[in-house]
Amino acid sequence: MATRTRDEFRCDQCAAVVPKWVGRCPDCGAWDSLSAVVAGRAVGATGSSVALGAGPIADLEAASTGVGEFDRVLGGGVLPGSVTLIGGEPGIGKSTLVLQALAGLARAGRRCLLVTAEESAHQTSERAARVGANVPGVSVLAESSMASLLAVVDAEAPDVVAVDSIQAISDPDVGGSSGSITQVRECAAALVALAKQRDIAVMIVGHVTKDGDLAGPRALEHVVDTVIAFEGDRHHALRLLRALKHRFGATSETGVLEMRGEGLVDVPDPSELFLADRAPGMAGSVVAPVLEGARPVLVEVQALVTEATAPMPRRSVQGLEARRLAVLLAVLADRVKINVRPRDVYASVAGGIRVTEPGVDLALALAVASAALHRPVEAGVCVVGEVGLAGEVRQVSHASRRIAEAARLGFGTAIVPALTPDVPGVELIRVQRLGDAVALAGLR
Ligand code: TYD
Ligand code: MG
Repeated sequence: MATRTRDEFRCDQCAAVVPKWVGRCPDCGAWDSLSAVVAGRAVGATGSSVALGAGPIADLEAASTGVGEFDRVLGGGVLPGSVTLIGGEPGIGKSTLVLQALAGLARAGRRCLLVTAEESAHQTSERAARVGANVPGVSVLAESSMASLLAVVDAEAPDVVAVDSIQAISDPDVGGSSGSITQVRECAAALVALAKQRDIAVMIVGHVTKDGDLAGPRALEHVVDTVIAFEGDRHHALRLLRALKHRFGATSETGVLEMRGEGLVDVPDPSELFLADRAPGMAGSVVAPVLEGARPVLVEVQALVTEATAPMPRRSVQGLEARRLAVLLAVLADRVKINVRPRDVYASVAGGIRVTEPGVDLALALAVASAALHRPVEAGVCVVGEVGLAGEVRQVSHASRRIAEAARLGFGTAIVPALTPDVPGVELIRVQRLGDAVALAGLR
């Protein structure tokens, strides 16, 4: 029997722990925010150790969620006894993803429990009908109490439990309201214990704030095995899954999905999607093979240079970094003598993806040059390279993999940094300086 001793108090607001109850948190100054926490350990508990390489811990098998791109990021699927946190902004599609994943697991014979603390069972079943996830192997518990969750898990012994969301669930034994740091942390700890003790695969949905923090509990990331960020641009159907932490595999895989009327659909060939609406041969448009995690993806970089409409010329970016654009405009002006700084400059990456890696520099610089000079880059040409302040074109990581992806999509020519090794099927135009790239792209 565990002995429960209530001998510490924790602040709901800042999570400070104090040994004695006081009316006001000595750390953050919040009033009436302290609640008792259980401290101390079970006395006389028994356990046993497991030899490495012997038995179940050696060969756990990942269960496929049936959502291919989710499996890709998880490294095949979910493992029994693992805890996966799926974080994303409200409305991005977390509930839909989890529901579809449970349906996939259920189809593969796993008994799944969906604890939906934010929506009713009726709403969940309507959504399930819409996305084709009405599978008998998934049972739904519309409850926000940790106690009910534990009771149902006891009674039904599911293989997989998903909790939607960690902010909406609460444990009446722990002080504070649901969503408070204390509640989130204690509930997560209880779910981790549940996963480990019973070998249940647990998925936890967590809302993140605008700046990308999991609301309140950064600490949550440490207690779970896997943290997956679910991202996307609200105005686009594109969704990206990224592993920020993964105890059982690589964090470099990126999953690409599309939110459609029938739910989330895998996008196994994102390059094709990003280039679908492209109008080849337009000035200001350049295709670049960029890296999304470890995955090479072709994107179209677009630029528009127009007369300034105000004394202060406009700079506008979408899916690109404003600071990179500013640097490249300076380099173009000073090193290549293409000065667009007095004019308005717009730059974007089509399709709702965000490109933050430097491998897109050369494409962005050429897109601006192309727009400014009103001359297109030929349709079968792609461009990759980082641009330095001296106007030098620098190496990028995984150049061959990027160019191979371009070749797969029919690009026969690539403008690349000087030391790039040959890639079969692609003519490489190796450049050392941005000025050479401008000339060899036929812009001037
Ligand atoms: P949801 O999964 O509820 O997001 P979250 O749990 O992250 O808040 O889904 C968000 C949006 O997705 C919802 O506003 C409507 C849209 N959606 C579709 O476009 N198609 C669908 O099949 C579903 C279920 C939702
Ligand atoms: Mg939701």
